[in-house]
Amino acid sequence: MQPRRPPPPAPRPGGPCPAAWPLALLLLLALQGAAAAPTGPPHGLLQQAARAALHFFNFRAASPSALRVLAAVQGGRARINPKKGCEVDLVFSTERYHPEEGEEHLGKCSAQVFFKNQKPRPAVNVTCTRFLEKKRRLQEDYLLFKQMKRLKNPLDIVSIPDSHGHIDPSLRPIWDLAFLGSSYVMWEKTSQFLHYYLAQLSSVKQWKTDDDAIDFDYTVLLHEFSTQEIIPCRIHLVWYPGKPLKVKYHCQEPPTPEEASGTEEGSAVAPTELSNF
Ligand SMILES: *[C@@H]1O[C@H](CO)[C@@H](O)[C@H](O)[C@H]1NC(C)=O
Repeated sequence: MQPRRPPPPAPRPGGPCPAAWPLALLLLLALQGAAAAPTGPPHGLLQQAARAALHFFNFRAASPSALRVLAAVQGGRARINPKKGCEVDLVFSTERYHPEEGEEHLGKCSAQVFFKNQKPRPAVNVTCTRFLEKKRRLQEDYLLFKQMKRLKNPLDIVSIPDSHGHIDPSLRPIWDLAFLGSSYVMWEKTSQFLHYYLAQLSSVKQWKTDDDAIDFDYTVLLHEFSTQEIIPCRIHLVWYPGKPLKVKYHCQEPPTPEEASGTEEGSAVAPTELSNF
């Protein structure tokens, strides 16, 4: 089983936030599938905004059974404020991360994403149509929760996917939970020009389950697309179906020529209610 889709083409790093494009033109470009407009990003910028919005959405939804991935950007526009940053309004479609047999689930999302100049952690407002009724989503999450509690000793896990790129079906719930926690980290680290994929869950430091929660402390390797850097992040999350996700993390930053080393930390609790899920 493939843990992730092949990544889309790399955005062009370094360019400024483009000036506002007329929505009609962007829609036209999107309809024509124009990945590279002659005068610069919009498509790359819209993709970037969609990825940031989706990481944020997945984290906030706190539901491993309803994880989404980007299907396609359908249109949008960007406004620039040279002193502050770049604000993107967009519409995109998503797919369920694990569609069930015969299931055709395309959801639609609209979002506003604000990239502060040179800064990660874009501000995001996002709403999506729901794939699953809330009740069914909770049932599926609860099933996953029970399945996870039955796992014998996840501390033995060497890596997911294994060295052949395979994810054992019994470990899929762990991978999904790791994906959920990573979504938060990836949202916080995304900037206008950097975006991250979850490449591998490389070790499990702690795995405690009781009736109230799963307490999961693990290390992932995040892959930054434009620099090709692999960044190890240790993540600690606490999850229970229907409850907000609690996340803390610590990433090892790649050394830059100026600074020998640096680290970043963060933590969050997702809000309980999601009006538009
Ligand atoms: C999100 O919505 C709030 C409330 O409407 C607004 O104040 C904020 O500027 C919005 N953020 C973005 C990035 O559009």
